[in-house]
Amino acid sequence: MKFLRKADIDIYNLIKKEEKRQAETLMMIPSENIASKAVEEAVGSSFGNKYSEGYAGRRYYQGNTVADEVELLVIDRAKKLFKVAEVNVQPHSGSPANFAVYTALLKPGETLMGLALSHGGHLTHGADMNASSIYFHSVPFTLDNEGRIDFQELERLAKKEKPKIIIAGFTAYPRIVDWKKFAEIADMVGAYLMTDISHISGLVAAGVYPSPVPYAHVVTTTTHKTLRGPRGAMIMVTEKGLKKDPDLYKKINRAIIPGIQGGPHLNSIAGIGVALKEDSKKSFVTYANQVVKNAKALAAELNKYNFKLISGGTDSHLILIDLRNKNLLGKTAAEGLEKVGIILNMNGIPFDPNPPLYPSGIRLGTPGTTSRGMKEKEMKLIARVMNQTINEVAKTKERMKIDMEQEKKRSVRQQILAETKSLGKLQKEILTLCKKFPIKKVY
Ligand SMILES: Cc1ncc(COP(=O)(O)O)c(C=O)c1O
Repeated sequence: MKFLRKADIDIYNLIKKEEKRQAETLMMIPSENIASKAVEEAVGSSFGNKYSEGYAGRRYYQGNTVADEVELLVIDRAKKLFKVAEVNVQPHSGSPANFAVYTALLKPGETLMGLALSHGGHLTHGADMNASSIYFHSVPFTLDNEGRIDFQELERLAKKEKPKIIIAGFTAYPRIVDWKKFAEIADMVGAYLMTDISHISGLVAAGVYPSPVPYAHVVTTTTHKTLRGPRGAMIMVTEKGLKKDPDLYKKINRAIIPGIQGGPHLNSIAGIGVALKEDSKKSFVTYANQVVKNAKALAAELNKYNFKLISGGTDSHLILIDLRNKNLLGKTAAEGLEKVGIILNMNGIPFDPNPPLYPSGIRLGTPGTTSRGMKEKEMKLIARVMNQTINEVAKTKERMKIDMEQEKKRSVRQQILAETKSLGKLQKEILTLCKKFPIKKVY
């Protein structure tokens, strides 16, 4: 980065600082991952200078012959990897990808059904305050008491509400989803089945998680999570989708541009292409398998330490923990773990008695640590440090006689962490682990 260093020392220093932060902590937010140097180079390339509004062969601006080549190549790679009929690689990110599908298939006010945000769905699946529920009629479905999708309730609601789209997609659901069951219900009421596989698309590509492609009409995904590419998204149309609606791909394309976007980010599209090539390698299958093995090992270990895992464990890359038996809010736990170098996020749990800003749970996952080469042995260490951290912080809270209302105050949480003296020692353990598994970005 010699040019950047010379031109803008402030931004250069911030990038170096962030690199150091990532190197010296564990990336355990399940939606994050470490893209390769090759992906970074493509994203930083001259494609970022080019405007390419439109699609290959039908652009609004001149000078797009190379743009056409790169976009078509990336589409072709995505079609082969996911075995789908058509792909749009232009969405700037996952949220606009989902919104484009809704605008393609629904008129304002028509009904969509997605998993409630508080039960593991994404904001864009019809949550209050999101455009998906402001402009469309959103009917959320939920999980059952075991933390599994309540298909009976889903079927009942679908028959009653007659949605035009059913969204099978998740941001905090650790289990394998029964795509077939979703499809049966969607077909029963004549709805489009849209699956949002943002979290699991890398696992699906590698064949370690069932593909929704035979069952769904439309599949959306971000490209920066388990898929390990740059930030971006894709909308895939399946054979089943084209059978239901031969104009489906056209509708989706029109919904992206001129519907909700202007020019595509060609540099990101190039980066997606690089990632898709990497994802087609045997080594990526090994990686994806290890992501799941690591998550299962971590879940088993956390169970031993009496953590209460939603649904009892995981089949994928992510784990959701109910912390109520540990006497700590998710936010305090996440802040304590950040102090020792374990970076994860607070999260609501199904039927959470606490409000979204102070939820009862935390969510974590293994894509990032597995990209550094960590395996089951390291997961054991991480579970132990997590357990010690949370126990120590909870003990301090008890000693200071702090109740939950007080714990909601930032200054009080800071005081609790400052008083928990053992965090420094635990942080050193995580730092040693990080140094043993440096970030290489070469896969
Ligand atoms: C399931 C799911 N869909 C969509 C999105 C939105 O993606 P983005 O943040 O790129 O807009 C996310 C992001 O976490 C997600 O988990």
